[in-house]
Amino acid sequence: MSFFRRIEWKGVKKSDEFLPVVRHRLGGRLDLIRTQAGGVSLPGGGSVKDFIARLPKAELHLHIEGTLEPELMFEMASRNRVHLPYQSPEQVRKAYEFSDLQSFLDIYYQGTRVLLHDRDFYDLAWAYLKKAHEQNVRHAEVFFDPQAHTERGIPIRAIIDGLDQAFQDGKRQFGISSKLILSFLRHLSGDHAMKTFQDALPFRNRFAGVGLDSSERDHPPEKFTSVFARAREEGLFVVAHAGEEGPPDYVWQALDALRASRIDHGVRCIEDPALVDRLRAERVPLTVCPLSNVKLRVFDAIENHNLRQLLSAGLCVTINSDDPAYFGGYINENFLAVHEAFDLTKDELCTLARNSFEAAFLPDSEKTRIFDELDELASS
Ligand code: HPA
Ligand code: ZN
Repeated sequence: MSFFRRIEWKGVKKSDEFLPVVRHRLGGRLDLIRTQAGGVSLPGGGSVKDFIARLPKAELHLHIEGTLEPELMFEMASRNRVHLPYQSPEQVRKAYEFSDLQSFLDIYYQGTRVLLHDRDFYDLAWAYLKKAHEQNVRHAEVFFDPQAHTERGIPIRAIIDGLDQAFQDGKRQFGISSKLILSFLRHLSGDHAMKTFQDALPFRNRFAGVGLDSSERDHPPEKFTSVFARAREEGLFVVAHAGEEGPPDYVWQALDALRASRIDHGVRCIEDPALVDRLRAERVPLTVCPLSNVKLRVFDAIENHNLRQLLSAGLCVTINSDDPAYFGGYINENFLAVHEAFDLTKDELCTLARNSFEAAFLPDSEKTRIFDELDELASS
């Protein structure tokens, strides 16, 4: 093990500022090398925050509608003449206090009302891509919720055209590769999902996977067996939200009825040891979203998140932002929050980043390239 691999960090909160502390264990000594608000220099250079920023990352659980920052919401409301029940972006932010998933979804769907034209979908995705580039996201697999828009009379073509154009530009300008995941709203019927899928088929080459999101309680994955079978016939990859608020049984259903190859959230799997064994044995990745889980009260505090247990169980855990405009942080803030709560080592942070590429629907050659880069960073 190299010298720097034995370095651990500990973050402590002070006056709302992240004040990293380096714990440098040498011969049992605990040396504080240097602390300063906002960053600490490690031997070898850089703060934890910098290290996280330098990690190449794949973001696998991101709802594009959940990246709508209040400022952009206001801009679009104004140009599209949509009334918002708020006076300012600050007031919007103040309204973001959620008691559970449903209380969030009510506000999230309200926010989508400003998205009308392909340009709006383009601008939304472009704003995310700029942020992703700043945070060294190299690859993004991104959900969109067509039913949240087609229900309001927006043509599916406008949604897909706008998003697809932005992600193509993101590849050209930032080198970020991406895949769109058409996600079905589980509070609507299986038939509605099938109709939506048929309407999307003319654009089949512009999305790569299907997913399942929205209100989990009382909406088991089995409701969507037919449309997921149809999607698999089309060669699309399959993922599903399960085990966020819903029981472990919904994770089993996502695996067995939908044949999902990745589970979004999945944190409640821990309640079922046989399920954990299955996820580990088949190396089914979980796209965990720590800040989301706290905002939506899946866990009452980040320190009580079960990330450590999931990692100790040997699961392929990835870190993601879910709906960053609503939950107070993009991918790097999620990494930093779990580092701070669980004292994650440099190696563990690298493993989380590595898992994100392992779990991505990318060719092995691209994964290998990133794994080499991560190995170099870990030993630097
Ligand atoms: N869970 C379910 N549906 C969603 C979420 C989520 O975290 N975000 C946006 N739609
Ligand atoms: Zn989600």
